[in-house]
Amino acid sequence: MTDPVPFLRLTGIGKRFGGVQALQNIDWDVRPGEVHCLVGENGCGKSTLIKTVAGVHPPTVGTIEIDGRPVLPLTPSRARALGIQVIFQDLSLFPNLTVAENVAIEGHLGHPERPVSYARLRGLAAAPLRPPDFTLDPEATVADLSVSERQIVAICRGLAAEARLIFMDEPTASLTRAEVNRLLAIVARLKADGIAVVFVSHRLDEVVEIAERVTVMRDGQKVGTWPVAAVDQRRIGNLMTGLDIEHAVVARDMSAAAPLLEVRSLGREGEYADVSFTLRRGEVLGITGLLGAGRTELALSLFGMARPERGTIALEGKLLDLRSNRDAVDAGIAYVSEDRLGLGVILKQSIADNIILAELQNLRGPLGLIPNGRRKALAAEWVKRLAIKISGLDKPVGTLSGGNQQRVVLAKWLAARPKVLILDSPTVGVDIKNKKGIYDVVAELANAGVGIIVISDEVLEIFATCDRVLHMRGGRILEETVPGILSEHQLEERIYA
Ligand SMILES: Nc1ncnc2c1ncn2[C@@H]1O[C@H](COP(=O)(O)OP(=O)(O)OP(=O)(O)O)[C@@H](O)[C@H]1O
Ligand SMILES: [Mg+2]
Repeated sequence: MTDPVPFLRLTGIGKRFGGVQALQNIDWDVRPGEVHCLVGENGCGKSTLIKTVAGVHPPTVGTIEIDGRPVLPLTPSRARALGIQVIFQDLSLFPNLTVAENVAIEGHLGHPERPVSYARLRGLAAAPLRPPDFTLDPEATVADLSVSERQIVAICRGLAAEARLIFMDEPTASLTRAEVNRLLAIVARLKADGIAVVFVSHRLDEVVEIAERVTVMRDGQKVGTWPVAAVDQRRIGNLMTGLDIEHAVVARDMSAAAPLLEVRSLGREGEYADVSFTLRRGEVLGITGLLGAGRTELALSLFGMARPERGTIALEGKLLDLRSNRDAVDAGIAYVSEDRLGLGVILKQSIADNIILAELQNLRGPLGLIPNGRRKALAAEWVKRLAIKISGLDKPVGTLSGGNQQRVVLAKWLAARPKVLILDSPTVGVDIKNKKGIYDVVAELANAGVGIIVISDEVLEIFATCDRVLHMRGGRILEETVPGILSEHQLEERIYA
């Protein structure tokens, strides 16, 4: 059987950023209307590969062909004109404009000589906003939409611009399972319309569920491309890392340890109610449940950012009145948020400065100055412990890959040596090998006596880190269980029941 003519073909693509060889000798193709996944560890070059095709980063060497014709040099607007659309993680939407205006803007920008007519904008926007998958109100303001709805707007915008290939860089990273399902349905629909979709994901279950072919990258090189039918999740994981990785159940019985954080009958109108639990010294407590179960709201209250209306929080036997996150940090409570883009890192600042951000108080010398040597040593220690892939401590965080940025956030809070550490979806966007690295750090901190709360809807993650799990639904704790007593599959079934 001869291969269908590819829509996109890359030959010998290489890309250097200063001393970093981000891509090396990549031969790759995407066929019309196929769903193709791009996987690999953090920093292996997935986003960079997309950006070379999108005209954002010109490759150092190599050729790119579309429909068999060479297209380099590419600019972003030329790439779009050739049918290449990229849904970046920040989505690049205009929050103050309506859905319809955002969808139509590309078509308009392509013809700046035409006057803006709202009727025409809405007309342009209406076509891709067809039910049943695209059921958004065209008049809604984008700022009022959820992440998943905004994503749909970005996809529609690509469709309005007559996309033939849509790249989605980690589109599911901040979605719930139900939202992922909706996105997957949309991808199936795009495929049926002959539009190719390439998506990057660290959730290998999704990859095998939806893709026809998968391309695995490692250290800037292509390991290979396979039909998904020929590989399973485990094999893909092996190909990504060259390792065999398994997460063992780690639950320990911590009931004899001293109580650290005691939460009693905590409630906040419309968010959560009657929440009571005790986190012990050195214990890792999971909180799972679907988005909207009240997990993040509860975490924000424990971090002083949403005052509970009822109930009490005590740390080491002392009642806390947390009026701000400053109060929480002073009490020894740290919170790593799920929102990797809103982040808690300052992209333009150096890696070292970000890591010591929360530790400033402790590092100050007698004159209120931070000795440069201590600053660097502490930052270097955490870079090493979390295996953060960097080319220099003084480089801005913005030059790191997404998963490595996430680890800088984690390092920042770990460096502050908290008593209680709340991790909200700590490994979203982190590849499996490095997930394991983060789990090891969680275990190490717990052994040092830190009480840790892990909020996650990934059952595997809960199993790989937690001693006990609280399952929340509709703002209440539904049940408490121990990983291993319920199997992963049983817990998953209960969460999605
Ligand atoms: N603008 C840039 N300047 C310098 N180096 C960069 C830049 N963009 C990416 N890099 C480097 O290129 C390499 C590949 O990064 P890339 O963002 O493509 O990784 P990725 O596979 O998308 O990872 P992740 O899964 O963490 O998102 C990394 O070493 C990264 O630090
Ligand atoms: Mg990336």
